[in-house]
Amino acid sequence: MAKGKKRNSPDLKSEKDYAKYFETIYQPPSLRDARRRGKEEVKIHYKYEIPDDVKNIGVGLKFYIRTYGCQMNEHDTEVMAGILTDLGYEPTVEEKDADVILLNTCAIRENAENKVFGEIGHLKALKREKPELILGVCGCMSQQESVVNRILQKHPQVDLIFGTHNIHRLPILLREAYYSKEMVVEVLSKEGDIIENLPRVRKGKISGWVNIMYGCDKFCTYCIVPYTRGKERSRMPKDIIEEVRQLAREGYQEVTLLGQNVNAYGKDFDFEYGLGHLMDEIRKIDIPRIRFTTSHPRDFDDHLIEVLAKGGNLVEHIHLPVQHGNSEILKLMGRVYTRDEYLELVRKIKAAIPNVVLTTDIIVGFPNETEEQFEDTLSLYREVGYDSAYTFIYSPREGTPAAKMKDDVPMAVKKERLQRLNALVNEIALDKNKRYENEVVEVLVQGESKKNSDVLTGYTRGNKVVHFHGPESLIGTLVDVRIKKAKTWTLDGELEEMLEVKSS
Ligand code: SAH
Ligand code: SF4
Ligand code: F3S
Repeated sequence: MAKGKKRNSPDLKSEKDYAKYFETIYQPPSLRDARRRGKEEVKIHYKYEIPDDVKNIGVGLKFYIRTYGCQMNEHDTEVMAGILTDLGYEPTVEEKDADVILLNTCAIRENAENKVFGEIGHLKALKREKPELILGVCGCMSQQESVVNRILQKHPQVDLIFGTHNIHRLPILLREAYYSKEMVVEVLSKEGDIIENLPRVRKGKISGWVNIMYGCDKFCTYCIVPYTRGKERSRMPKDIIEEVRQLAREGYQEVTLLGQNVNAYGKDFDFEYGLGHLMDEIRKIDIPRIRFTTSHPRDFDDHLIEVLAKGGNLVEHIHLPVQHGNSEILKLMGRVYTRDEYLELVRKIKAAIPNVVLTTDIIVGFPNETEEQFEDTLSLYREVGYDSAYTFIYSPREGTPAAKMKDDVPMAVKKERLQRLNALVNEIALDKNKRYENEVVEVLVQGESKKNSDVLTGYTRGNKVVHFHGPESLIGTLVDVRIKKAKTWTLDGELEEMLEVKSS
């Protein structure tokens, strides 16, 4: 039996038949194929079934999934956990107790990839101790040819590699991994259809994620995502609305709608329907908070602003990645908006939603960025007055147009620019937070603080972290908290009801 695995042989095939079969499913990814955007229609499959011979494959066994990257990956992990649970596996929080370990990877920057390769190396010892362990690599890194080749050549301890488009095939892939002598690789370069009704084991009972679309067609010149996630495909409004309703029925307090570029939602439909229409329907569902991420400024239309201005359960937080403050760099980045167009959008949003909290993503050190161009980023940051930002040093990604650009900016200069930007981000974050001192904010209580179990932690509608003392029974509820002290990244407050008790 392959690799000393102790599983019952399935009745259908001999090892020879399997070998033949693997040849047909082995598909090394190709960045070139991933670049093509086909006209073919995306089919939606509502039926998800597990083949009979794998139904109980995981009974008595445990799984562990390590997730890297964005919310999209976090949510994919919830789907994979759902599939594994359906197969009979149980979750474990200890890698060493697991019979299946999946690394759900991110390819956005080089350091994200390095972390994963470090972990793959580290798991070699565990695999040696426990040869029946199935070690799988999935997520965005596995969509890259170079990564798959490197694993094939240097990391034989990996049993299974699969991509972002074939998560629903996990039951079959696991079966192959148990019986194959070779590493099982199934990565589709081109996106597949939309699969509805996949099972999910969600991470908590308070906030839930709901995909509204998959993929990205923006092809910003520095970015790997359009290659790893395929073309833009929107889920049908009725399927999204039903999922949000279901979460509301289950008592969820908050839903975050997910997509790489949610403002392009509906552009692939043959009927007139966009994110504004969707939000206008979802706001009628009885759930206290609705968020969405991530926005691309280019497709952020007036209709959406108009709908968001209705407030209610649509929270006043918009994550609006700008990436850079200089129009020439924005052009080289392929962002299709200028500094002025972005500022105009911000002006419109602020006029319609006066208490809006704006956050952003910024890249420093894009190839050949000059000091003056970088300073444009600083001045734009100050002008918009973001509440916070994720800031990154540009990382060349193989196969993207920017990776071919010659770059004369030394890394030391890039690091120094990042530090200057972060100093500004911190300064303005504190400034913005100070405005909440002595104000009462609505907090969705998420749990105990990581640092101090006597303290509860939660989020405001604007996504600010609040710490305060209160009973555990408040977890999962909305409470009013009076902010006493603002810090750069958190607000410390007191429960308003407690204050009322004290003063009466
Ligand atoms: N779809 C989202 C972004 C997803 S990636 C959007 O367009 O807003 C999250 C962030 O990572 C990006 O906003 C960008 O700031 C950063 N990023 C993407 N590619 C990068 C690269 N090659 N180097 C450094 N940062 C990068
Ligand atoms: Fe990447 Fe641009 Fe798509 Fe965002 S919009 S995922 S940065 S290509
Ligand atoms: Fe990373 Fe893929 Fe998300 S590259 S940021 S996990 S879409």
